[in-house]
Amino acid sequence: MGKPFDIGLERLTGQASTSGAPQRVEVSGRGTFFLETFGCQMNDHDSEKVAGVLLSRGYHQVETPDAAALILYNTCSIREKAAQKVFSRLGEYREKQSEGKIIGVLGCVAQQEGEDIFKRAPWVSLVCGSASYSKLPQMIAQLEAGNHRVTGLDTDTDETFETEMTRRDNPWRAYLTIIEGCDKACSYCVVPYTRGPERSRASDSVLKEVRQLAELGYSEVQLLGQTVNSYADPTPRKMRFSELLLTVADVPGIRRVRFTTSHPSDFTPDIVEAMESQPKICDHVHLPVQSGSTKVLQAMQRTYTRREYLEKIAMIRDAKRAIAITTDIIVGFPGETEDDFRETLSLLDEVKYNSLFSFKYSPRPNTPSLAMPDAIPEEEKSRRLAVLQEKQREIQTIRNEKLVDRTFELLVSGKSRRENQWSGYTTSHVVVNFASQAKELLGTYVQVRITGATPNCLVGEQVV
Ligand code: 5AD
Ligand code: SF4
Repeated sequence: MGKPFDIGLERLTGQASTSGAPQRVEVSGRGTFFLETFGCQMNDHDSEKVAGVLLSRGYHQVETPDAAALILYNTCSIREKAAQKVFSRLGEYREKQSEGKIIGVLGCVAQQEGEDIFKRAPWVSLVCGSASYSKLPQMIAQLEAGNHRVTGLDTDTDETFETEMTRRDNPWRAYLTIIEGCDKACSYCVVPYTRGPERSRASDSVLKEVRQLAELGYSEVQLLGQTVNSYADPTPRKMRFSELLLTVADVPGIRRVRFTTSHPSDFTPDIVEAMESQPKICDHVHLPVQSGSTKVLQAMQRTYTRREYLEKIAMIRDAKRAIAITTDIIVGFPGETEDDFRETLSLLDEVKYNSLFSFKYSPRPNTPSLAMPDAIPEEEKSRRLAVLQEKQREIQTIRNEKLVDRTFELLVSGKSRRENQWSGYTTSHVVVNFASQAKELLGTYVQVRITGATPNCLVGEQVV
């Protein structure tokens, strides 16, 4: 939404003069599509690839459902609220179908609800989960041939979704999925069910894409996966995750390499060593803990104890350069007592995360925790969430104040409406709003001295 649209084919493919491009231009005029995305970065990036598939078939992307012949909705079902939103939005699209538009549901709700979507919303023509995206071109061809019910719901696949063309929304940072699905079995989580088993992309294919991205002018790549560090190269090369990080960082033109999300159990010392030895690998690890109580972690089937998690933290904190650590926390998991919750608070005190995402536990279909006793009342979940967020706010206030007067390199990614005001990210992924007299800075790297701090962002001025 509100993203730039008419990006030329050359920019998308990086192969303006190669044999592939003219053929794509020939099929143009097929129709228009509107694609709306909810959920995580993986969904955002899936949508970029879906848009690439459609653009390569001659479709044009438009900014409103009204202007589109094909309306696609890429959905999230990680928490109940997100899933509810899908059906209310589908309700709004009902009348659009009577105007002759084709409506499709992609992503986790598509996978979770499957053909039931046709019952609840008979105006939908396409239901496709992320594990079946590699079949999207065929599915779209079926729709074009006049088929009104097309589904892609297999999760039992060893395929990853690779496209010749990806329509990237951010001109400086490129997302790149290196591992799809999840083989962990956290008892609260729909992802193993909706995204299927773990499938890693071939390392040579990942590197080829990174080289293309660098040639297109991207200087930052973010490697994505639900458990990105569980990467297992399927080629004979058997590149380890840490090796892949180093090899990606070596690609000429690449200045920053990010990765998310890491699973604590697979976070091994060689990853920290790679970060120490290669400054292009960003100073940031997102390491979801979910709870500070070993008892709750066991009920969540998180595969580590509090002590083991803290050992991983110590390993990261012992690195030769400072590495920011962020996390995800769920409050109000079934059976979480006040003491368990206090253990989560004390973990925050111990780790002093740079920032965190926190959620109230949301019971989800097809998950083992759905049947667990001792549900926590909604008001109590809200109270715990507020207490946790207040504690983290205090931690971040102190953390960020210490950064005043220091100078950081930023990749400039935003220009404020206010004159001479810009924003960018540090390598540790903190947003800095800063002043500069420069005329154009977007996409460049600048040095900025921090002059002020709030819990969630820093203020500074460019050092010239
Ligand atoms: N309820 C609440 N939060 C959840 N998450 C995943 N499943 C649930 C659920 N059922 C959170 C976890 C995960 C993040 C992406 O979403 O914290 O790390
Ligand atoms: Fe869900 Fe756990 Fe897999 Fe993360 S590791 S996607 S929380 S099952």
